[in-house]
Amino acid sequence: MNIVIMGLPGAGKGTQAAEIIKKYPIPHISTGDMFRLAIKNETPLGNEAKSYMDRGELVPDEVTVGIVKERLSESDAKDGFLLDGFPRTVQQAEALNEIMDELGSKIESTIYVDVPEEELMNRLTGRRICEVCGTAYHLVFNPPKQEGICDLDGGKLYQREDDNPETVQNRLEVNIKQTQPLLDFYESQGVLSRVNGSQDIDEVFDDINKVLEKL
Ligand code: AP5
Ligand code: ZN
Repeated sequence: MNIVIMGLPGAGKGTQAAEIIKKYPIPHISTGDMFRLAIKNETPLGNEAKSYMDRGELVPDEVTVGIVKERLSESDAKDGFLLDGFPRTVQQAEALNEIMDELGSKIESTIYVDVPEEELMNRLTGRRICEVCGTAYHLVFNPPKQEGICDLDGGKLYQREDDNPETVQNRLEVNIKQTQPLLDFYESQGVLSRVNGSQDIDEVFDDINKVLEKL
């Protein structure tokens, strides 16, 4: 099962990906998470990505496509994967098709989690993440049982550096520009499904599940 989850910043890609991999044991490959890990480890990739991410800009394609190609060539991705946050431009989608051709495989489904722009600022500025397991909470929409503490492992919750209002605004603008052409591309390939991402988290997952069960 080779699937892609797409959506604007804050649409719930990471939240839904965490649910999907509980049901389907495939690797969750998030380009954002890969960049954040590289930044934490102060690698050359991390140093390059940081300047773009801090401004809410896209990391250049030659860097992003390269790390995805490497990751998809690893043995655990052979029997399926869930890509989250890639592709976000038509150029990246075309590059992904080439990678899949080289691997003798293809993308079976792309799921677009659709949330109106005006909901996304609140979702992102209210997001808090567990420093131990990476689970995303929300101060209002999905609060932990105890303030500032992860329900699952007692880890402390922190705010992502790019979740401040100014950077969020730019992330939204940058990504909105790319979205329609990307959706048109996958529509024309016959692999696009849209789900209503404004519902409760478990209702969104039910809709995603209906798509995946047909694969
Ligand atoms: P990335 O980490 O992918 O960030 P993003 O696309 O901005 O998306 P987010 O992770 O912020 O949101 P999400 O959709 O996962 O939402 P979540 O589930 O957490 O990328 C970061 C940066 O890396 C980019 O800006 C770019 O610089 C670079 N980058 C990454 N990929 C790249 C690429 N392909 N090309 C170039 N550059 C790239 O949910 C958000 C909040 O809402 C949470 O608090 C959650 O609890 C809450 N929530 C979730 N679902 C619901 C719901 N149904 N109802 C109410 N609240 C909800
Ligand atoms: Zn945790």
